[in-house]
Amino acid sequence: MSFCRLGAWSTHAFVRRLLRLGRSMLASIACSVVHEPANPRPDFWYSYGNVKKRAELRRLVLFEATNPECGWSMGFNQRLNFTAQLVESRLSGLLDGVGRAGAPERLVAAMRHATLAGGKRLRPFLLIETASLFDVPTESAATAAAAIELVHCYSLIHDDLPAMDNDDLRRGRPTVHKAFDEWTAILAGDALLTLAFEVLAGGVPTGPAVNLAMVASLARAAGAAGMVGGQCLDLEADKLGLPPRPDAAHVARLQAMKTAALIRCACELGAILGQARPEEQRALETYGARLGVAFQIADDLLDVEGAATVMGKAARKDAAKATLNAVGGIGLAKERLAELAADAVACLARFGDKADVLRDAIAFTVERER
Ligand code: IPE
Ligand code: IPE
Ligand code: MG
Ligand code: MG
Ligand code: MG
Repeated sequence: MSFCRLGAWSTHAFVRRLLRLGRSMLASIACSVVHEPANPRPDFWYSYGNVKKRAELRRLVLFEATNPECGWSMGFNQRLNFTAQLVESRLSGLLDGVGRAGAPERLVAAMRHATLAGGKRLRPFLLIETASLFDVPTESAATAAAAIELVHCYSLIHDDLPAMDNDDLRRGRPTVHKAFDEWTAILAGDALLTLAFEVLAGGVPTGPAVNLAMVASLARAAGAAGMVGGQCLDLEADKLGLPPRPDAAHVARLQAMKTAALIRCACELGAILGQARPEEQRALETYGARLGVAFQIADDLLDVEGAATVMGKAARKDAAKATLNAVGGIGLAKERLAELAADAVACLARFGDKADVLRDAIAFTVERER
């Protein structure tokens, strides 16, 4: 979508709807993006200082423009792409801040390498879209979205280390320990993890109770009974052959922890930000949990059927891993994938059309090639 198109359109539905939704600041930005005469504060846009910040606000406006409530919709992939750009720019700003705070250049360079090079940004997308069910502005959700992506990027650095999966390629580029070295990669992972909590604790413009709930949720999801615990089960199977004959239930436990915990958390954080009712939050958490396991099953299938050039990471690496492919064959994995997709769809029933983007995220997860 070009700015011209938004410009022509903004005089009509978009700005009026934003105003009706009480989003006057965004409406104001939208007007100034396209130099509308109807701009309630003509100088608003230019008061936003530096070019980077303005670019981020432009993205926000365009992203909001695609909100179904604003009456203009955009394809799922374009919307995901907008989130990716938005999160990328937020992450870049955060890492600039780390450098300014005095972190060693080498460490910041490794953190940037791990964080700013592509990635689907699915977890931030889920957080932003879940929050938007409750009309949380994208700009408010973007900081928490960046925090969860920082945890994800740290998990990938460590996952790729020689002591773990020993991978050389990630997001189409050398892994951090290849581009730098192992000790730098370990420290960059540590620094991204801790940065995530600094960001979440201090940078989200909500009350302390909401911030605290988000910090606790992310810590739980990332920790020993979540992602880290799942990685332990994954490597126990891979390196120690334990348990000797993993069954489907063991694989389900492993996947729920190593991958689904963080994806579920993205949805939980969106619900917390949106101050969802307990039953709404539970439905979204279950959606995230089902989607998360489906995401890992799809990832394991891609290891068998996918192309390294498309995925940006090596394929045919999982022979010794505890996967559904290994336990019951590809047929069983695909069957389970379809069941999980149907379960995830069912969780969204109470949210009506507003959850269409989250429904599309299920299809995206199942059908993705990277
Ligand atoms: C890869 O996650 C690790 C898994 C949990 C399977 P993604 O497939 O979301 O990786 P990026 O962020 O898009 O590179
Ligand atoms: C990684 O799972 C899950 C994480 C917690 C990072 P994989 O090891 O299957 O992820 P890829 O295939 O390397 O991306
Ligand atoms: Mg792994
Ligand atoms: Mg791996
Ligand atoms: Mg994998």
